[in-house]
Amino acid sequence: MSTLITNIGELVTNAPEHAPGGASGPVGFGALSDAALVIEDGYVAWCGPAARAPAADEVINAGGRAVLPGFVDSHTHLVFAGERSAEFAARMAGQRYQAGGIFTTVAATRQASDAQLRAVVRRLAAEMLRQGTTTFECKSGYGLTAAHELRCVRLAAEVTDEVTYLGAHVVPREFADDADAYLALVCGEMLAACAPYAKWVDVFCERGAFDADQARKILAAGRAAGLIPRVHAGQLGPGPGVQVAVEAGAASADHCTYLSGEDVSALASSGTVATLLPGVEFSTRQPYPDARRLLSAGVTVALATDCNPGSCFTSSMSLAVALAVREMRMTTEEAVWAATAGGARALLRTDVGHLAEGARADLLLLDAPSHVYLAYRPGVPQVAAVWRGGELAVDMRPHSL
Ligand code: NIG
Ligand code: FE
Repeated sequence: MSTLITNIGELVTNAPEHAPGGASGPVGFGALSDAALVIEDGYVAWCGPAARAPAADEVINAGGRAVLPGFVDSHTHLVFAGERSAEFAARMAGQRYQAGGIFTTVAATRQASDAQLRAVVRRLAAEMLRQGTTTFECKSGYGLTAAHELRCVRLAAEVTDEVTYLGAHVVPREFADDADAYLALVCGEMLAACAPYAKWVDVFCERGAFDADQARKILAAGRAAGLIPRVHAGQLGPGPGVQVAVEAGAASADHCTYLSGEDVSALASSGTVATLLPGVEFSTRQPYPDARRLLSAGVTVALATDCNPGSCFTSSMSLAVALAVREMRMTTEEAVWAATAGGARALLRTDVGHLAEGARADLLLLDAPSHVYLAYRPGVPQVAAVWRGGELAVDMRPHSL
């Protein structure tokens, strides 16, 4: 069964040969106008000018609307119970975000049943899909015992292949006087339990969480267990997170709100992606990361949501794009690239984040003529349809189509 989507006003491919003006810069955004695309057996079988489209079993007329690669959200914390709206309200009334609320969520998560946690994870995964996110990473980190972290990674593995073990989120209260013992648990029994369900190991490298030496140990233990490093770095203040990430060969250093000149150079001369999470700054009233500084240095930038009950409870990649454009001065092309191909790089995925022959058929139809509308019409639900692995997973197409 093949499906031809034709009369696409703007097809964002992210192919360098489709870069605006033909110039292939470091950004890599690319788009075709008056385009068409054929889906077959879960993959893109063809894409190019609509006038040259081959025949297919089924034809969908996009009516001049835009088609984009599905969003790749490379940073979320979906396995949790409870909520922290009161903490958010207090913050908006002037209190500073200090990540202490993580303990509130840990307590609620430990008390929740598997069924309750599964319901939260599934609801959020469905919410993300409706908004065009076709690939997402999901972390543990609100269990913080071997048994509870295992439960979190298993539940995450039910909804995504991109599971991250974040036993090193914070030192739980019961280990407050013995961080070394907790470190031994994170690198030992807890890791052994979680590794079979995870692809990634992450650490919150920040004052009040884990320092550079602790983070190095955790990432090395994760590597030895077959996991690939990624790091929460420079979220709340300057620190060693980015250097630790680059040294460990991490796929991504996430947040990057506080960066030194050395951090920017280290990122630029490494394969480590800087994943920016502007929803966090929006929801905590912190300063936004300096995306322009990273981009001018040649750093690969990704955008993700960080969806979690504390620092940022949004699952909207469209919002991340709008904030990146409005608040971080990324161009609309840079932001859309970062939310698709950038996310794919941050997850070491070559099959998603772009649309070309052979790519996974993960794509979204916008009820708008171009990608610019994601930032131009912030807060408006514009995703009209989503295909995941070639299946029409969400269909909210206007009746006129
Ligand atoms: O990415 N930085 C640590 N973890 C989350 C916040 C978690 C929470 O507040 O519950 C983050 O912002
Ligand atoms: Fe996070």
